[in-house]
Amino acid sequence: MKAIDAIYERQSVRDYTAEKLDESTVFDLVNAAIHAPTAMDEEPWAFVIIQDKTLLNRMSDNAKKLMQSGFEANLTQGNKLQQEHFLVPEFNVFYNATTLIVICAKPVSDFVSADCWLATQNILLAATARKIGSCVIGLAVQILNTPKWKQELGIAEDMSVFVPIILGFPSKETSIKPRKPANILTWK
Ligand SMILES: Cc1cc2nc3c(=O)[nH]c(=O)nc-3n(C[C@H](O)[C@H](O)[C@H](O)COP(=O)(O)O)c2cc1C
Repeated sequence: MKAIDAIYERQSVRDYTAEKLDESTVFDLVNAAIHAPTAMDEEPWAFVIIQDKTLLNRMSDNAKKLMQSGFEANLTQGNKLQQEHFLVPEFNVFYNATTLIVICAKPVSDFVSADCWLATQNILLAATARKIGSCVIGLAVQILNTPKWKQELGIAEDMSVFVPIILGFPSKETSIKPRKPANILTWK
C-alpha cells in the first residue's frame, strides 16, 4: 500500500477478532515506530508490548475504577453521560484488542512527546498498510502512569507513558470518519 493510501484509509478500530498478531508483525510495527523523525537524534522511545488477555482485562478494569473516582470527584452533566458510556460492565477500555503497544520515554526534553507521537503515527500507518486495525487509547494513559502499573510492566520510575495503542484484526468494516476542511489561516 502506498503511504498516501495508508494515510487516507487509517481509522480507529474498536472491534477486533480474537486472532493475535504474531511476533514478527509486532516487531515490524515497532521497527516502523523507531524510524520516525526524532528531535536531536534522541530516539527517546521505549516499548511495552502486552498480548496477555487477562492482564489487558485487569488493566481495563483498573482504568475504569480510576475513571469512576474522577467522575465522582467532578460530576458535571457531561461527566454523567461519559460515566454511563464508559462504566458499563461490558465496556473494555481496549475494546478486546489482542495487542497493546505502549510507548514510553524519559521526559528529558521538550520534544520527547512529539517524538513519541510521531512514532505512534508510524505504527498506525504501518498497521493500516498491513490491514491491521489500531486505535490510540488516551483513556489508559493515567492508569499506565501509576507506580503500580509502571512497576508491573517494567517501566522505570523516571519514564513516562505517552501513548497506548491497541492493535488487532478488525472484525467488521467501518466507514472512515470525514474531516472538516483544513483551516488555512494564511497563504501568502
Ligand atoms: C490522543 C488521542 C487519544 C485517544 N483516546 C481514545 C480512547 O481513549 N478511546 C477511543 O476509543 N479512542 C481514542 N482515540 C481515537 C479518536 O477517538 C479518533 O482518532 C477520532 O475519533 C477520529 O477518528 P479516526 O481515528 O477513525 O479518524 C484517541 C485519539 C487520540 C489522537
